[in-house]
Amino acid sequence: MKKTRSGNYIVGCIIAIFFVAGNAWSAQDEKTTPGFAWKDGAEIYAKICAYCHDVQVGPPIRNRELPAAYIRAVVRNGRFAMPAFRAAEIDDESLTKLAEFISRRSTQP
Ligand code: HEC
Repeated sequence: MKKTRSGNYIVGCIIAIFFVAGNAWSAQDEKTTPGFAWKDGAEIYAKICAYCHDVQVGPPIRNRELPAAYIRAVVRNGRFAMPAFRAAEIDDESLTKLAEFISRRSTQP
């Protein structure tokens, strides 16, 4: 008797998690509709990456001449505490611009 009730509770939790997660994903998918584009790499860096990478949550990534392909791979796949960003958040074209912006050595702060 006791076993069945806890079993039901666990199944209920799992269903609830899938329900919530499913809704979260579908809500995010709606944002993929075309029409929104980042201005340039500097804007994406300032609005997304700087949130962690300018405040020592993540390591500094600018002015280190990291290869652009490596930057794109880390952004798409994530790395340990670094979250992955999908095309819904940063489209391929913007990601290319962003990687170039980060990898090139600049004199700006
Ligand atoms: C929520 C915080 C957070 C955000 C936002 C974030 N990062 Fe990171 N990033 C991290 C952390 C933490 C690491 C270190 C991961 C590790 O342990 O290797 C990291 C690592 C990296 C690395 C590898 C650095 C190295 O030394 O090899 C690159 C490249 C990178 N991030 C690029 C980006 C870019 C580009 C963006 C913006 C699209 C971004 N990150 C946004 C937290 C973040």
